[in-house]
Amino acid sequence: MGTLDTLLGERLARIERAGRLRQPRPTRMLPGGRALREGREYLDFSSNDYLGLALHPLLIERAREAAARAGTGSGASRLVTGLSEELRALEARLAAFKGTEAALVFASGWQANAATIPALLAAMPGAAVFADRLVHASMHAGLAMAGARQHRFRHNDLDHLEALLAEKGAEAPARVILAESIYSMDGDGPDLARLSVIARRHDAILYVDEAHATGVLGPRGAGLSASVPGAIEVIMGTFGKALGGFGAYVAGSRRLCDYLVNAASGMVFSTALPPAAIGAIDAALDLVPDMDAERAHLTALGDRLRAGLNGLGVPSGASVSQIVPVIVGAESAAMRLSEALLADGMLASAIRPPTVAKNTSRLRIALKATHSAADVDRLLAVLGRAL
Ligand SMILES: Cc1ncc(COP(=O)(O)O)c(C=O)c1O
Repeated sequence: MGTLDTLLGERLARIERAGRLRQPRPTRMLPGGRALREGREYLDFSSNDYLGLALHPLLIERAREAAARAGTGSGASRLVTGLSEELRALEARLAAFKGTEAALVFASGWQANAATIPALLAAMPGAAVFADRLVHASMHAGLAMAGARQHRFRHNDLDHLEALLAEKGAEAPARVILAESIYSMDGDGPDLARLSVIARRHDAILYVDEAHATGVLGPRGAGLSASVPGAIEVIMGTFGKALGGFGAYVAGSRRLCDYLVNAASGMVFSTALPPAAIGAIDAALDLVPDMDAERAHLTALGDRLRAGLNGLGVPSGASVSQIVPVIVGAESAAMRLSEALLADGMLASAIRPPTVAKNTSRLRIALKATHSAADVDRLLAVLGRAL
């Protein structure tokens, strides 16, 4: 074995000894909030296809049409030949959907955060960054790339944020606040109206990730940023979750988008989204604004699950969305529960440190509008037995 394999073998052994070795299994989503894994059908409480759009006939048809018309690849980054008429039209449509002046499409949410944050911080040398403790790994990657000074505030604790802004922000030449409108492992979010007032009061730029709210929450599924129009300078969101496609966006001012096209390395040096992905997103935007009934159903499912967990005496944190954590504490308990569900034909990921804080290991339940109340009751019955 060569030197690299030896070194990596040691690392893998260390991960395995810590009980954290992951070996993903091939899975395919099926209609009705189900999934196929190695020949067996499961109730899928793991994937983020919250509206069931990934298998919607309109998205599939428009992806197919786009590929037939324009091919399977975009050929280059947008600065070269990757900007098609369809991509430009999609960005205009997204801006209208989000209520912003402009929008830019990125290849993934990870890339959007990791590319946008360093580009923004390059424009404000010495800026102090204030990040919720639970912001996504891709934002941390962006901050690390920027070499930024970072102050973390307790999750959704806006009093703590204000105290930090007053203490650490006043002397800095600029301030940036990073948050999510719905957090991926907790299904909760900050009071965005208050957050935006705090940002104004401290002359801070507000950056909000709407990966889990886009399509699901806010007026016509436009995300929670739509409830505070004009108050968030940088809104980021993804297409790979409720919109059933792939890729991500950053929405804000025209100047922000013009700047990112020129300064965000992850956009300048990366191939633009392919035609099929653009076709599918465009079809999703035809459907999402009129899916209030699906959104109401999803809300009702979340309420039903939280009430059921409450009845079982199991904490579900401050979840207010389609993401409901079943918090069991110990890592081993979360693993056992996930395995018990698997045996009963249900996929629900066990989430453990370092993804979540110590002693808050959990199952992360991701509900979909394609689930029924009976599906949630089945889940509760299995949880009741296993717990
Ligand atoms: C809050 C948040 N931001 C960004 C991302 C990354 O998005 P993508 O999967 O499109 O790379 C995710 C997805 O896991 C997420 O949960």
